[in-house]
Amino acid sequence: QDQHAWSGRFSEPVSELVKKYTASVGFDYRLAEFDIEGSLAHAAMLARAGVLSADDLAAIRRGMAEIVEEIRAGRFEWRLDLEDVHMNIERRLTDKIGDAGKRLHTGRSRNDQVATDIRLWLRAQIDTIGGLIGELKGSLLDLAEQHADTVMPGFTHLQVAQPVTFGHHLLAYVEMLSRDAERFVDCRRRVNRLPLGAAALAGTTFLIDRPYTAELLGFDSVCHNSLDAVSDRDFAIEFTAAASLVMVHLSRLSEELILWMSPRVGFIDIADRFCTGSSIMPQKKNPDVPELVRGKSGRVVGHLVSLVTLMKAQPLAYNKDNQEDKEPLFDTVDTLIDTLRIYADMMRGITVKPEAMRAAVLQGFATATDLADYLVKKGLPFRDSHEVVALAVRHAEGQGVDLAELPLSVLQGFSALIGEDVYAVLSPEGSLAQRDHVGGTAPARVRAEIARHRALRGA
Ligand code: ARG
Repeated sequence: QDQHAWSGRFSEPVSELVKKYTASVGFDYRLAEFDIEGSLAHAAMLARAGVLSADDLAAIRRGMAEIVEEIRAGRFEWRLDLEDVHMNIERRLTDKIGDAGKRLHTGRSRNDQVATDIRLWLRAQIDTIGGLIGELKGSLLDLAEQHADTVMPGFTHLQVAQPVTFGHHLLAYVEMLSRDAERFVDCRRRVNRLPLGAAALAGTTFLIDRPYTAELLGFDSVCHNSLDAVSDRDFAIEFTAAASLVMVHLSRLSEELILWMSPRVGFIDIADRFCTGSSIMPQKKNPDVPELVRGKSGRVVGHLVSLVTLMKAQPLAYNKDNQEDKEPLFDTVDTLIDTLRIYADMMRGITVKPEAMRAAVLQGFATATDLADYLVKKGLPFRDSHEVVALAVRHAEGQGVDLAELPLSVLQGFSALIGEDVYAVLSPEGSLAQRDHVGGTAPARVRAEIARHRALRGA
């Protein structure tokens, strides 16, 4: 039986059940290459400070290079009895290079080591996620451009409200995703600080050069308090909050896709490769991907709650509780990356049915507000014109027709201010064209927004 790194202190071996319970290597092996990157920077700093010899540093570099190869080739044997990724790698290094491997942990603790690993790992994931959000925005922008003029009903309370263009509707999600991307950029600034050097909690007696280690690892700065450096996971919480918002935004879009694809609505169709059939009902084509995205949003929000709860009652500094940060964080990243990838592809596989959208606009008195605005422009106070139009809508509803289908003489019965030119504003296209200001749904404004977003992306 192998000796544990701390076994000198103990009079009996740790129970098997406890070993299993406390081991994290089953999941933290994912940090391996970042752990090695951190160790190499730490060793280089120690050598520069004269704490490690040049020979030791060379041996560590050689040993770690071999270990990286073993890991990439799937030949590295992860041992549960060595508890976590850090001790597995350190042991393997020592098996290979002897005492130099045992000197690596000088001036360091697993506490600052693991905090460094997670930050390095998360930084790389944030960069991947930023790229994927950009791709999804790209597919939404392409679809929006094709439908800059396509009329659809805009809804409030899920009831037809006013005409918008489908392009404009899609751009709402582009805005949400742009803010999501900003949040990750901002979060990255706080992720990108170096905990290493905090050691277990109080710093170290060796004369270390933390800014140098930070520079080697591409961190913007060091964490300025050793207790804080090893104990807080606020950066992971922040990240998961940003991820939750992306998932919430995509859950809303999913809900709309599901609704639009419902045969009762029929605004769009989703490519077959994103749908599944029913094992009993032969006619079915179900929007499984959007439904799963909606479902998985709950999972990511759950991870956010886990991490906040994990943190909330921990006294300073490090506690083993923090080992529980990894699975929620890993699963958040996996879920988000998969979702963004599949979504970008799915949005390119959407067929739009403009006739169905237009028919829906013509059924819900969507241009009633336009009639009210028309009367205001002819001199009627808005509250009065609102009342006039309400009466006209009530009449049209009784006749089973749209406002635009009422003859001029009938419309004039509600207000003498109404003239022949009213029919221009009562059409969906007339309604759209008049909403011609920044952020409005006029097709020209939709095109301008698409161009603005593309310029920002540099695409
Ligand atoms: N596996 C541990 C974690 O994930 C590493 C740090 C352990 N430190 C300790 N003192 N037990 O947090």
